[in-house]
Amino acid sequence: MKFKNKLIIANWKANPQSLDEAISLAEASDVKGLVICPPFVFLKEVAGVLQKSKLGAQDFKKGLKKLGVEYVIIGHSDRRQNLDETNEMVAKKFSAAIGEGLIPILCVGETLEQKRSGQKEKVITEQIQSVFANCKLQIANFKFFIAYEPVWAIGTGEEADSQYVLDMIEFIKKIITERGNLVDKIHFLYGGSIDSSNAKDFLRHDVITGALVGGASLDTAEIKKITVIASEC
Ligand code: PGA
Repeated sequence: MKFKNKLIIANWKANPQSLDEAISLAEASDVKGLVICPPFVFLKEVAGVLQKSKLGAQDFKKGLKKLGVEYVIIGHSDRRQNLDETNEMVAKKFSAAIGEGLIPILCVGETLEQKRSGQKEKVITEQIQSVFANCKLQIANFKFFIAYEPVWAIGTGEEADSQYVLDMIEFIKKIITERGNLVDKIHFLYGGSIDSSNAKDFLRHDVITGALVGGASLDTAEIKKITVIASEC
């Protein structure tokens, strides 16, 4: 199935340093097809300047909707790796997010060690199944994204080749198909060192319906180029 509009998620992580810079960055990045995820402390003010982009949060918290947040990143590797966020915690946040009417972007992906030891399928299966098994709501009734982000490609400048990503998305589809007829409803994103030079390699594939962009989203020329590429794919 081909989705009409590809979506780019800008994950600012802990950047920028000040509110003024956050407002300037948001104003300069404000284009259609982009979801901007600033640090929590800047959400309200960034919401105030966005006209074309949508607002996202980098983690779930109650009350985000009141701040104008529509999308929420869940289970980002920063949290899984550095804060020991477990699959169970991720599943709870996913359920809570859809329960509050937010659109979750569920991040899954293997570390370099897991890839080298031949465990990537097992890791991804557990990450996905935990969400499906623990979600109290009928997942099929809600919109959500799955972002496949191999951890070894995040913030490292190392990109996965597109065939590797397509194979992993096929694998994820298979796991989901076992859980019901949902696959056509799910949007798959790719994340991991995406910039304007490699975005097309991924976005030209119908099954990759967008990208989660970290570092390059802090450069307004870059993020705009990526959204143009996405709109042409
Ligand atoms: P990156 O980050 O684009 O800097 O690799 C991706 C992410 O935030 O998941």
